[in-house]
Order: sequence, then structure tokens, then C-alpha cells
Amino acid sequence: MPQKRLKALCVRKIEPLAKFHDRDGFDCGSEPLNIFLQQTARQHTTRGISRTFVLVEEEASEPKPILGFFSLNLCQIKSESLSVEEAKKLPRDVSGVRLGRLAVAKNLHRQGLGKILLVAAMKKFMEIFHTAGGIGLFVDAKDQKAKDFYEHFGFKSLPSNELELFLPVATIQEALTHGA
Ligand SMILES: CC(C)(COP(=O)(O)OP(=O)(O)OC[C@H]1O[C@@H](n2cnc3c(N)ncnc32)[C@H](O)[C@@H]1OP(=O)(O)O)[C@@H](O)C(=O)NCCC(=O)NCCS
Repeated sequence: MPQKRLKALCVRKIEPLAKFHDRDGFDCGSEPLNIFLQQTARQHTTRGISRTFVLVEEEASEPKPILGFFSLNLCQIKSESLSVEEAKKLPRDVSGVRLGRLAVAKNLHRQGLGKILLVAAMKKFMEIFHTAGGIGLFVDAKDQKAKDFYEHFGFKSLPSNELELFLPVATIQEALTHGA
């Protein structure tokens, strides 16, 4: 029985950021990302600017510790900012989804949680894709390390800015079907 309870504690889930999450206790090692989660994310949700989702232990008591988070917003881009290959047959203005932020608590780095969050973001993208379209996921990597992380999953830099990366819908579908 105690073993069963221990197992239940380890079940993780992604849920929309809410009041009962421990935003102040979250530290990913990047102050701007911590501050976004603590001070801005809920306001953005209320105003429809972006949506933030958190990874938590299902059975955690409130305030629930946040293991990691990501936020998404809709975006419009000029197809000319994509590579020639990607821009082919697209109209001048296209829409997509921006993965504005993604971070894992710093004591949990390199344990697969970043991948869990990224796959969850891809699934959210597919929900939007099936409802309103969108050519793929865009992300602004904050530095070379973050860029390496996204490249590991197939994101490619835009020709105009190597810290802005793009993952087209076909690659997302492929990753979700055959494993990221
Ligand atoms: C970037 C970050 C989200 C990665 O999260 P993580 O939980 O440590 O990553 P994971 O353990 O899930 O790693 C998943 C895969 O990515 C690889 N990876 C992780 N960090 C990497 C990096 N910096 N460069 C290249 N590959 C990386 C892992 O080796 C792993 O590969 P595998 O699936 O083949 O085994 C985390 O380091 C973080 O929160 N950093 C601070 C905030 C930040 O920089 N966010 C980026 C937003 S711009």
C-alpha cells in the first residue's frame, strides 16, 4: 500500500496555470523566466495574450510545486522570413503559434521534463492547427544553450535571426506519431 501511494505521487500532469500553483517557489535558473511565471503569466491568460501550462505532480498538495512550464500565443509572420524551401507556396502573411517560454525547475534539469513540456506544447499546437490552422511552432531561444535544446528536436533557425527557430507542422505530426 505505501508503495502504491508513492507511485501515485509520481504521476505528473500538465494543467493550465492557476492560483493554486506555487509560482513563487519556482526557480529555473533564469530570472526573466521566473519573473514571467510569477508576475505576468496569469495576467496574460486573463487578457488573452498568452496561455501558460505547468507540469505538476498529480497528487501534490496546494500550493502545488511547479516542475516546469511553457506558454503559447498566436503569432503572425511574413513568409519571406522563412527559408526559401519553407516559404514555397505560402501567402505573404501566415499564422503560427509561438512557444514564448519553456523552463524546468533547475534542480530537475536533464531528467526528461523539458522533453515532456515540449511534446505537450506540440500537442497543444495540433489542437490549434485542427481548429484554426497554423504553419508550425516558433520559438525565441534566449541563448545558444536554449537554441541547442530546440535544435535537438528538429527546430531550425530562421535565416534572418538564428535565435528564432521554427518547427513546421509536418515535423510536429511526424514527431507525435513516431516519437520526438
Ligand atoms: C532548456 C531546458 C528547458 C531543458 O530542459 P531539461 O528538462 O533539462 O531537458 P530534458 O532533460 O528533457 O532533455 C531532453 C533532451 O534534450 C537534450 N538537451 C537538454 N538540454 C540541452 C541543451 N542545452 N542542448 C542540447 N541538448 C539538450 C537532452 O540531452 C535530452 O536528449 P534525449 O531526449 O536525446 O535524451 C532547461 O535546461 C531549462 O529550463 N533551462 C532554463 C530556461 C531556458 O533556457 N529555457 C529555454 C527557453 S528560451
